[in-house]
Amino acid sequence: MSTKIFAHRGASNYAPENTMAAFQMAERMQADGIETDVQLTKDQVPVLIHDESINRTTNKRGLVRNLTYEQLQQLDAGSWFHRDYAGESIISLDYFLSWIKQTSLLLNVELKTNKFPYPGIEEIVLQRLQEHHMTDRTTISSFNPDSIRRTAVLDSAIDTGFLTSKRPKQLFSLMEEIGAKAMHPKFRLLNKKLLVECQQRNIPIRVYTVNQPVYILKALEAACDTIISDVPDRALDLRKSY
Ligand code: G3P
Repeated sequence: MSTKIFAHRGASNYAPENTMAAFQMAERMQADGIETDVQLTKDQVPVLIHDESINRTTNKRGLVRNLTYEQLQQLDAGSWFHRDYAGESIISLDYFLSWIKQTSLLLNVELKTNKFPYPGIEEIVLQRLQEHHMTDRTTISSFNPDSIRRTAVLDSAIDTGFLTSKRPKQLFSLMEEIGAKAMHPKFRLLNKKLLVECQQRNIPIRVYTVNQPVYILKALEAACDTIISDVPDRALDLRKSY
C-alpha cells in the first residue's frame, strides 16, 4: 500500500484553509483524504476552523467558543486569503460531512482540544460521523491525550491518531494507555529510531505538515502511512514518480 496523501485543512496553499473551496480543490487534485479541524461554537455546533480565535482567518475578531453558529456563518472566511474567495464561510461539520460522504475521500478530523477542552466534543463529533456513515473512513486525531482516550472509550473501532510535535516520555505506553492506533508526528520527529519502533508495534505513521519536495521524498522513502500536506498536488506528483 503506497503512502496516502492528505490535504492539510484542504488544499490550503491554494485556497483559504478549512473552506469548501480548499476541500473541493483537494478532491479535484485527487488527494486520498482531507485533514480538517473541529471546534464547538457557543451553542455546541461543531465547526471547521483551526485557530481558537476567528482573528486570523475571518473579517472579525473573537473566540469561536464565544460565538454562535449563526454569528460565525455571517463571517467572511475567504478574503484574508484572496479577494477571489470573499464568498467563503466557516462551515459546520454536518455540512462538510454531507459533501465528503458523496466522494471517495478519506477523512482526518482533528479535535482542537489543546487550548480549550470543549466538553462533549468527542461524543458530538462521533455522533455526526455515525449519522453520515463516515466512521469507517475517518480518523480522529488530537494533540490532547484525553480527547483520544475519550474517543476510544466511546467507539473502540474508530481509528485514532495521537498528534505530537515533540517526543513525550513513555510515548508508546501513553499511546497504548489512551487507545491511539496511529502516530501523527511533526515531520522533524521522523527518524530511523521512530520508524523501527512503530514498525515493530505495527503503528502507522502519518507525518505533518510536509510541503518541501525534499521532505516529501523523505517521507515517501520512509514508507509513512500518510503525508499531510498543504500542497497535495506536489506530494501526489512526487509519489507518481517515486
Ligand atoms: O493534523 C496535522 C496538523 O494539522 C497538526 O497541526 O497545528 O495544523 O493543527 P496543526
